[in-house]
Amino acid sequence: MNLCFSFLLLIFSFAEIYSSGFSDSICLEETLKLDSVCLEFQTGTGSTGNKAMVENLKRFGVISSKKVAEVMEALDRGLFVPVGSSAYADTPLPIGYNATISAPHMHATCLQLLEDKLQPGMRALDVGSGTGYLTGCFALMVGAEGRVVGVDHIPQLVDMSIKNVEKSVAGSLLQKGSLSLHVGDGRKGWGEFAPYDAIHVGAAASEIPQALLDQLKPGGRMVIPVGTYFQELKVIDKSEDGSIKARTETSVRYVPLTSRVEQTGGF
Ligand SMILES: *[C@@H]1O[C@H](CO)[C@@H](O)[C@H](O)[C@H]1NC(C)=O
Repeated sequence: MNLCFSFLLLIFSFAEIYSSGFSDSICLEETLKLDSVCLEFQTGTGSTGNKAMVENLKRFGVISSKKVAEVMEALDRGLFVPVGSSAYADTPLPIGYNATISAPHMHATCLQLLEDKLQPGMRALDVGSGTGYLTGCFALMVGAEGRVVGVDHIPQLVDMSIKNVEKSVAGSLLQKGSLSLHVGDGRKGWGEFAPYDAIHVGAAASEIPQALLDQLKPGGRMVIPVGTYFQELKVIDKSEDGSIKARTETSVRYVPLTSRVEQTGGF
């Protein structure tokens, strides 16, 4: 089962795509071949479905951190995805404007890679915050004493993400001001609350934007997909003396980190 699931993960990692028809069908197709893992991921609705999703990620070894499990269990993914989509299946979903919400296993992976830099009171930046789901997870991790900033360049997505967060357990953090979501070009980061202990980028860049490296705190960590067609999820650590170390975590497929005009075809 574990081997089987690793293979499934590999497929999903390559399937961080935004062509809606395709991403919707992945789960069903692979289910036929691979031990009904996907179907298990889709059991239940509402908080029951969300709990089952987290349980499965734990069972298959994707989530090993207790804190990450708690946070993902607390924040119902169903409140963040478009109505009618399979909120609890382990698959990326289209959210409009040629953007996606990543698969739950990618969220879990990024949360665990950043966990040490998402301790209570720390600061995090989420570039390409989309639905606000992962930004909300960050906010629950760092708590009311921390500071989390989400940036997305599509104003409609930012409006939607604020409404999503308001419906969720992270809503009070938005009200208290320890979480905020902004319209902006995430490639420039968000200077106001820099430097950040943790930076997450939810879209792939051909190179790591210098502004993001500059806004990373010494001792901080950035997780960013890098590449064009073939992409790698990079873990960038800035040491106390400011030097940068990078390693590759896994192969992924994200939508490109680009301008609003490029993403929406000029409209
Ligand atoms: C998605 O991208 C295509 C190609 O650039 C564009 O024609 C389309 O308008 C975009 N869709 C949205 C909703 O922005």
